[in-house]
Amino acid sequence: MVALMQLFSVSVAVTAASAASSLSFGPSTFTAPGAFPTSLYKSYYNDPTATSAQPQPVISDPVTHEIYPYSLTNPKKIPQSDPKDPHILPPKASESLLLQNAVNQVTSLGSNPVFANNTCARCQASLEVAKFLSLAAPSQGPEFVIFLCNEFKLSSTCNITYGPLALGSVITQVLANADVGGYDGLMLCQNFLSSSCSLPPTSPLNLTGWFAKPKPNPLPPPKTPSGERAKVLHLSDFHIDPRYATGAEANCTSGLCCRSNNFNAHSPNSSVLPAPRYGSYLCDTPFSLAAAALESIPVLAGTNGTGFAWTVFTGDLVAHDAEQQLSRDYIMYTETLLYDLFKRMLGGGPVYAALGNHDSYNQAQDATHSLGGELAEQFSWNYDHVASLWEHEGWISQSAVALARAHYAAYAVQRTDGLRIITLNTDLWYRANWFNYVNLSQIDTSGMLRFLTDELQDAEDHGERAWIVGHVLSGWDGTNALLNPTDHFYQIVDRFSPHVIANIFWGHTHEDQLSIFYSNNATNISAETALATSWIGPSITPLTNLNSGFRVYEVDTATFDIVDAHTWRSEVNSFPELDSQVQFGPTYAYEYSTRDVYGTNITWGANDPLNATWWHLVTEQMEANPDLVTTFNELQGKQSVLTPPCTGACIAAKICYMRSGSSSISVQNCARGFGSVQ
Ligand SMILES: *[C@@H]1O[C@H](CO)[C@@H](O)[C@H](O)[C@H]1NC(C)=O
Ligand SMILES: *[C@@H]1O[C@H](CO)[C@@H](O)[C@H](O)[C@H]1NC(C)=O
Ligand SMILES: *[C@@H]1O[C@H](CO)[C@@H](O)[C@H](O)[C@H]1NC(C)=O
Ligand SMILES: *[C@@H]1O[C@H](CO)[C@@H](O)[C@H](O)[C@H]1NC(C)=O
Ligand SMILES: *[C@@H]1O[C@H](CO)[C@@H](O)[C@H](O)[C@H]1NC(C)=O
Ligand SMILES: *[C@@H]1O[C@H](CO)[C@@H](O)[C@H](O)[C@H]1NC(C)=O
Ligand SMILES: *[C@@H]1O[C@H](CO)[C@@H](O)[C@H](O)[C@H]1NC(C)=O
Ligand SMILES: *[C@@H]1O[C@H](CO)[C@@H](O)[C@H](O)[C@H]1NC(C)=O
Ligand SMILES: *[C@@H]1O[C@H](CO)[C@@H](O)[C@H](O)[C@H]1NC(C)=O
Ligand SMILES: *[C@@H]1O[C@H](CO)[C@@H](O)[C@H](O)[C@H]1NC(C)=O
Ligand SMILES: *[C@@H]1O[C@H](CO)[C@@H](O)[C@H](O)[C@H]1NC(C)=O
Repeated sequence: MVALMQLFSVSVAVTAASAASSLSFGPSTFTAPGAFPTSLYKSYYNDPTATSAQPQPVISDPVTHEIYPYSLTNPKKIPQSDPKDPHILPPKASESLLLQNAVNQVTSLGSNPVFANNTCARCQASLEVAKFLSLAAPSQGPEFVIFLCNEFKLSSTCNITYGPLALGSVITQVLANADVGGYDGLMLCQNFLSSSCSLPPTSPLNLTGWFAKPKPNPLPPPKTPSGERAKVLHLSDFHIDPRYATGAEANCTSGLCCRSNNFNAHSPNSSVLPAPRYGSYLCDTPFSLAAAALESIPVLAGTNGTGFAWTVFTGDLVAHDAEQQLSRDYIMYTETLLYDLFKRMLGGGPVYAALGNHDSYNQAQDATHSLGGELAEQFSWNYDHVASLWEHEGWISQSAVALARAHYAAYAVQRTDGLRIITLNTDLWYRANWFNYVNLSQIDTSGMLRFLTDELQDAEDHGERAWIVGHVLSGWDGTNALLNPTDHFYQIVDRFSPHVIANIFWGHTHEDQLSIFYSNNATNISAETALATSWIGPSITPLTNLNSGFRVYEVDTATFDIVDAHTWRSEVNSFPELDSQVQFGPTYAYEYSTRDVYGTNITWGANDPLNATWWHLVTEQMEANPDLVTTFNELQGKQSVLTPPCTGACIAAKICYMRSGSSSISVQNCARGFGSVQ
């Protein structure tokens, strides 16, 4: 640098130019030489005298002693994104700092005018933050979920329900995996903030390639009835409460009543209604009622000694404990207890049991295998346990046990009499199984509907009929099952009905209900298009405001159609008076024959089945005669004294629910708000 300055001054400074000035200047003009002054540098990367390119001197750094390479300035090869230099990032934040920042982001969304007045948009934006945190700092996920719960005022017990020892880890897994910016996020926000977020529509369903074969046309001829009838028991929603405290508050103002830790807020020191020994309307099934029901069933059904041909149990063994009171042991205890009692007290044929949402821990959670890795297997302890119990009780074969272990406790049994029983784990379409909100717009992420379809195809190929047994109903008022998977299920039922699927059985609502499936996605609802019926069985538990009940079907032994259905119930409001004595327990009494109550005005042969055609005709009778809906409404609650009447808009809504086999159809066709009599 110093040398260069000297050279320059020597070549420009010449003589004084202006007489007016006392300072001297060089000449007024100077023309530089045409040749580059090659003496400037000792060496060059190119020929500095060549006029076709600029000189490329070799520069040596007197400080670093580095000689800068030609590649740095080679005009023909300009370097891009040189990786040599460091690009400094901030240090990795601790997980707690990440949490703090996520909290700050969501808080700032709340004060941003764009989001402040749009709770649903704020929810979706918050889920994006939550997803980041769940991936970056999973250990902070539960804490953040509690924060979100409080921020959006979802519960008064956020820190317990969503804490690390309750649902916090599940929700963190879901957030880490879900498409929170798309359909998953819309559905999650709608689920938690239904007053702010509208229900996104059913996603388009592309079933190209789904079915191995088209529906046979014409259908194979229907099987000829044998005329012989088997007795089949339908039990549902047992909900035994092993922590039931006789004398505790049966009229509590929060939580599950008849528990020593739940009170009536207006009378904290003494029970407004002391829990009767045999149960109460706001309580689950005490052991005394469980035993009384199981003692009554064989006697009333006339199967004492012989047993039922078989039993379907449509799920929910476990009590409605709050999330933080549950544990794996509590679930397994109840499974062990009740399956054993079923075996010893019902006698006879096998019990085909489906898992209910309460038969899992965390409650209602079952992870799809598509999550991969250890997440895929996190509920196997339960599938393995129930499968082993069913094998132990001698109810299902080893091959069915293997299926149950592999398919979320769902299995298929190919009976020797030509009936195939296919059970489902309906948590995989239940709204409250948060794992379903991962890729919800994709088809069958769990694989359960693939399993069902393959079993139905095999049944069709073998000329068998099939019963489908599950817990959470696919349709009715559309409040329990998710739109997309039940829309898909509906198309599967259409494909295999009526020639394969003879009947479908659900539970879950605790109420006596049904839904009919029609061809072409119910675009034309008529007796001619009715294809299949789902029977929703009454519960043993009185919860909530219901009587305790069970049902026995008369089933044709060749077609496996239901020829009649008989329901019994015990009046829970009579239980308090039993406490003053020990001679008598509760009374289960015959409630009704389905054929007799609904069928008197329908021309139907004495041995014709109560199939979908018949049920559709019943709904037409109901349209003509609303009194029949009043009857239905009373039976829905098992004639509970607490069942409210169904009048006005309720009448059409109930008929509509009976005609809705998927949530999608129910949401599309029916008025909402009349589903339950509780
Ligand atoms: C949000 O709502 C408040 C009260 O309803 C209103 O005063 C305010 O103008 C709204 N802000 C925006 C951005 O819409
Ligand atoms: C939950 O929060 C409540 C009140 O905010 C507090 O009383 C309670 O101790 C907290 N529980 C847990 C488990 O942190
Ligand atoms: C449906 O799926 C098939 C096979 O995956 C694909 O070829 C077809 O384009 C899809 N149709 C629509 C309407 O997306
Ligand atoms: C239950 O308690 C409420 C007050 O919380 C009271 O109004 C009601 O009458 C009680 N019902 C019974 C059956 O005791
Ligand atoms: C309940 O009992 C406690 C002490 O035993 C007493 O202080 C309180 O006033 C009682 N509450 C009611 C509502 O009677
Ligand atoms: C049921 O059958 C058992 C054994 O066959 C018999 O001991 C019992 O008395 C019967 N119970 C009733 C209520 O008939
Ligand atoms: C969700 O979808 C993405 C994209 O198709 C896929 O990579 C991922 O494995 C899916 N996850 C689950 C649990 O289905
Ligand atoms: C509906 O189906 C019935 C019976 O198949 C048929 O008579 C009627 O024309 C159909 N209606 C429409 C609108 O397709
Ligand atoms: C129902 O049974 C009747 C009488 O046997 C029969 O005509 C009708 O086709 C059946 N409907 C279905 C959907 O199987
Ligand atoms: C049968 O029709 C008669 C006359 O319309 C009506 O009074 C009766 O309630 C109906 N019964 C049933 C079960 O539909
Ligand atoms: C079936 O009908 C429902 C209600 O209209 C609709 O949401 C759904 O997309 C339909 N499904 C198919 C496969 O067309």
